[in-house]
Amino acid sequence: MNCLRVVTKTARYRSWLSALGSSGCAKRSHNLKVSSVRTSLRRTMATAMVKRLEGKTIVITGASSGIGWSTAKEFARTSPKNLKLIVAARRVGQLDRLAQEIKEEVGDGVKVLPVKLDVSNPEEVKSFIPCLPAEFQDIDILVNNAYDSGLVKGVAKSPDITAEDINIMFSTNTIGLINMTQAILPIFKKRDQGGRGDIINIGSIAGREAYPGGSVYCAAKAAVRSFSDALRKELIATRVRVIEIDPGQVETEFSIVRFYGDKSQADAVYSGCEPLTPDDIAEVIVFAAGRRENVVVADTMIFPNHQASPTLLHRQS
Ligand SMILES: NC(=O)c1ccc[n+]([C@@H]2O[C@H](COP(=O)([O-])OP(=O)(O)OC[C@H]3O[C@@H](n4cnc5c(N)ncnc54)[C@H](OP(=O)(O)O)[C@@H]3O)[C@@H](O)[C@H]2O)c1
Repeated sequence: MNCLRVVTKTARYRSWLSALGSSGCAKRSHNLKVSSVRTSLRRTMATAMVKRLEGKTIVITGASSGIGWSTAKEFARTSPKNLKLIVAARRVGQLDRLAQEIKEEVGDGVKVLPVKLDVSNPEEVKSFIPCLPAEFQDIDILVNNAYDSGLVKGVAKSPDITAEDINIMFSTNTIGLINMTQAILPIFKKRDQGGRGDIINIGSIAGREAYPGGSVYCAAKAAVRSFSDALRKELIATRVRVIEIDPGQVETEFSIVRFYGDKSQADAVYSGCEPLTPDDIAEVIVFAAGRRENVVVADTMIFPNHQASPTLLHRQS
């Protein structure tokens, strides 16, 4: 077994080192050996994750850009031999492009199914599973990532928040996420031991700490957090894992959307800062999904180095 091989290597290396003593040469060799043991260990961990993800069917909502797009690619790169990805969003042209890029990068081992889906439309969500080709229906992992292009619109404060923005923020970010979860849970619950599968909800620092100008978005994300926590408790007698990933500042289309397409205002959000990239979050999502089934990464908060709260950011002048 790979794990055994690493342990044996480490033990052999220790005895080799004590025999050599602490000469400069030994130290250099020591460093080389340490790095080779580390590489070997990393490979072992990667192999375990690849095996755990192999054969899975994964749904990612909001896959046409940002974190969803990167997550699809990260799953494909991590388990390129045998994976099914259902990538969903409203811009199906973007999803086709994603499918093509994945095929070019990893080949035919990953089957990608682009699906046009508006998660804020309960009827579309209801017909989502029945309309999938049979080979894609046995879903193992749901990544609830979508948020509407209206979401976080503006930074208006009460009483000036428009009814349309309030509706958009809740209907995609919260109700859409809940409806998607309810559509997929019956598939999980058919499995043994009360059910198995992963629900990965993308929340936000905004759901933990509210800030002025973000009241509705913060409330919508706080609702995601409460829903995730309650769901994990409701599913306690199953093998279903409920995982929440809460990013801090990530550079995506998010800010452009927030400022109604005004790129210069969006750029100002990141000025003097180095935000996270969508790939940074994708790596955490795939890591969480790739753990042993008994390991539930229930909750994560991911900041870039300069951030410690929604409003506490260090900017270099
Ligand atoms: N970026 C950040 O700083 C940040 C921080 C914390 C949390 N987050 C969270 O991370 C998640 C992803 O955001 P992102 O930053 O990657 O944003 P993004 O690049 O704007 O992506 C949002 C995705 O959601 C899709 N979408 C919008 N409305 C939809 C609907 N009604 N039905 C289905 N798909 C829909 C969009 O595609 P279509 O337009 O094609 O439908 C797009 O693919 C969100 O849940 C967001 O709240 C982001």
